[in-house]
Amino acid sequence: MVDIQKGQGSQTDLDLMVEAVKNVLAGETDLIAALANSSALIMVYLGDINWAGFYLRKGTELVLGPFQGLPACTRIAEGKGVCGKAAAEGKPVIVPNVHEFPGHIACDANSNAEIVIPLFKGGRVYGVLDVDSPRLNRFSSPEADALTKIGDLLSAFLERC
Ligand code: SME
Repeated sequence: MVDIQKGQGSQTDLDLMVEAVKNVLAGETDLIAALANSSALIMVYLGDINWAGFYLRKGTELVLGPFQGLPACTRIAEGKGVCGKAAAEGKPVIVPNVHEFPGHIACDANSNAEIVIPLFKGGRVYGVLDVDSPRLNRFSSPEADALTKIGDLLSAFLERC
């Protein structure tokens, strides 16, 4: 297992986070195991976040997958919320202030900023990685770049799991 130190949000921590996710995905083929450990590593390394996890596309909905944080809404209808927008557009969505995002779905009242990264399998959106923070503007380019790299690693994993 990887050696884990609680992150303070530095670039080194972001690099370590990406490396740690790469390590837990290497040699793994089980979806739940891979997503569960990935959400735990994001929670440990990123710092100043209150939710990290996955929604997976089932028919026209996104359904809650492995996560770390408070219990969250289990189903998100097509195109709804930040998750639905990222899934519909197939592009990351960064929300500096969720209170200014029309249609934001509040699962934890402490959340103030959010980033959602779509995951792909076979060229189609398979689900999303969703991360919430109590700090406004939490997800600027270093964090977005690192989480996008994790999204790329997970999409590569999905192709072979
Ligand atoms: N805020 C999300 C819903 C999921 S929770 O943040 C865990 C959204 O608007 O899609």
